[in-house]
Amino acid sequence: MSAQPRDTLATRQAQPAPAALLEARGLGRRFGALQAVSDVSLSLAPDAIHAVIGTNGAGKSTLINLLSGELAPTSGQVRLLGEDVSRWSQPRRAQAGLGRSYQRNNIFPPLTVRENCRLAAQAHAQRPWQFWESAQACAQSQSQADDAMERAGLTQMAKVPAAGLSHGQKRQLEVAMCLATNPRVLLLDEPLAGMGPEESDRMLNLLRGLRQGHAILLVEHDMDAVFAVADRITVMVNGAVIASDTPDAVRANADVQRAYLGEHA
Ligand SMILES: Nc1ncnc2c1ncn2[C@@H]1O[C@H](COP(=O)(O)OP(=O)(O)O)[C@@H](O)[C@H]1O
Ligand SMILES: [Mg+2]
Repeated sequence: MSAQPRDTLATRQAQPAPAALLEARGLGRRFGALQAVSDVSLSLAPDAIHAVIGTNGAGKSTLINLLSGELAPTSGQVRLLGEDVSRWSQPRRAQAGLGRSYQRNNIFPPLTVRENCRLAAQAHAQRPWQFWESAQACAQSQSQADDAMERAGLTQMAKVPAAGLSHGQKRQLEVAMCLATNPRVLLLDEPLAGMGPEESDRMLNLLRGLRQGHAILLVEHDMDAVFAVADRITVMVNGAVIASDTPDAVRANADVQRAYLGEHA
């Protein structure tokens, strides 16, 4: 087994960013007879929020799983920072700058907000063969965790056990835990799910603040939120892309109105 090249934020920042940080090319996934994702191509630009919308079962979560490496594609390619990563595992893609938040909860409830963030940073930085760096690595993980908490608007909650957070704050913590791994690309699957209007607004402001410095893929049901925050929108129906354009162009697209938006357009 060959050693993976050391990939730190510093080495990544030293390289010029490719036009697309993450790209899907003709990506497909079959489950038996079901083509859940079919020939999807899209590219995520830096400093932009790219939303993916579609009815239940359209293939949005499967697409995220293909991009993150949790699922292997049955056709097509995933490119991260210009490199073909289609055969890379999810942890390897995460090491190279691909962060995701989960629809299921991956928070440790008894630990504080700060401890959850530090664990996320530490798990990401783990290089078991560099045990002699552990003290320094620990300080670095803590500072990454503190930055992530601040960017996610949770600094005031640092000492609160995660179990004591509201639903909206838990979702903010999930974003913070993702940020603690220093990603260039963020894949967010329904970060507004189950939130009231106030919590949604807070999360949307958080996402707007994260646009700078990241490429963000946002899967979201709330159409008002999507149109308020996205720079680009891809519409999926039955696993396939039927439109991918600016919010205004998607709103005006007759196919989209027929297939999906209806009363929202
Ligand atoms: N692991 C799986 N095995 C079999 N079918 C699956 C699996 N994951 C998703 N599917 C199916 O693929 C289709 C797309 O699902 P999904 O990507 O979760 O849609 P969405 O997130 O847009 O609601 C659905 O018909 C779903 O039932
Ligand atoms: Mg889904």
